[in-house]
Amino acid sequence: MTGGAGFIGSHVVDAYLAQGHDVTVVDDLSTGKKKNVNPQARLVTADIRDPNLGALFAASRFEVVTHLAAQLDVRKSVQDPCFDASVNILGTLRLLECCRTYGVRKMIFSSSGGTIYGECTTRAAHEEDPPRPESPYGISKDTAERYIRYYGKVYRLPYTILRYANVYGPRQDAHGEAGVVAIFAGKLIAKERVTIYGTGQQERDYVFVSDVVQANVAALTKGENDTFNVGTGLTTSVNSLYEDLARLDKDAKKAAYAPVRPGELARSVLSVERARKHLGWEPLITLQKGLEETYNFFQQQNNSAVFKNRYTPKAITRSLYVP
Ligand SMILES: NC(=O)c1ccc[n+]([C@@H]2O[C@H](COP(=O)([O-])OP(=O)(O)OC[C@H]3O[C@@H](n4cnc5c(N)ncnc54)[C@H](O)[C@@H]3O)[C@@H](O)[C@H]2O)c1
Repeated sequence: MTGGAGFIGSHVVDAYLAQGHDVTVVDDLSTGKKKNVNPQARLVTADIRDPNLGALFAASRFEVVTHLAAQLDVRKSVQDPCFDASVNILGTLRLLECCRTYGVRKMIFSSSGGTIYGECTTRAAHEEDPPRPESPYGISKDTAERYIRYYGKVYRLPYTILRYANVYGPRQDAHGEAGVVAIFAGKLIAKERVTIYGTGQQERDYVFVSDVVQANVAALTKGENDTFNVGTGLTTSVNSLYEDLARLDKDAKKAAYAPVRPGELARSVLSVERARKHLGWEPLITLQKGLEETYNFFQQQNNSAVFKNRYTPKAITRSLYVP
């Protein structure tokens, strides 16, 4: 598994371990955290672009590679498309070469339904719709998918591609660019005002992380050589998302509004019929329930951060033993 120290990957690691699989995590900890990695998994701190990755594959004989490591900041991909392509395209190619050389049974790839299809003006995006990415990140995910299909066809390396909508849930980075739910929850708990860019009427498909995990579990045994959207088929505006979250916080302030950010889509939503039919998967967690779990997680994290600052062993040692 690559990217297993990150938000989604760490939950997938937990689920695979719970199913009795041996899990090795390859992660360079660039955005992921060591503390996210389940101690029952083996953590190899390495870059997926490392030319020596083959040695790890040779020694470990992996059966399945679930590939989540990525550069996923859309704005960074615009500022530095070479870096984005290097991680998302060349990194994926490095893994494909290792899979081909060392007889891996399957690759499961995390792609991005939110960026590959572009605007979904009239209806939810279906898997057969032509890709119309509007950012270097969307282009690099689309390109990685094409290489995966090429390896499937030419080298008979089976794969399942999962195109996620907007994923949210515990362990998402509240300071990053990706997760509006994490950013809003973080601000609410810090008693800060939330900023909404544009009118707030832009619509997204928000899928809870445990549902995304279940798609990665289903893909271990199903959905061979196919591509699936992993979302809910439902849209929620940013305004309505904030209202739902703000209801959970008694001190919530009114959101502030700032000019729309260039390149932001007006509407993105994924049809999940194919995953229902062929993966036997469907989203189970309602937005209400998912937001509650996420908000509670950030609140607990905030409380334990305060606790740690006051009572870390270091602080106690100093006050007790330093003259
Ligand atoms: N979060 C979303 O809403 C969303 C939506 C669509 C697709 N995805 C995809 O899901 C996957 C996981 O995303 P996430 O939200 O958990 O992000 P994340 O940043 O929490 O996780 C990514 C992980 O990859 C690791 N990583 C990055 N570059 C690496 C490299 N060169 N070598 C090794 N490890 C590297 C990071 O340290 C991190 O642990 C990504 O492929 C992303 O494109 C996420």
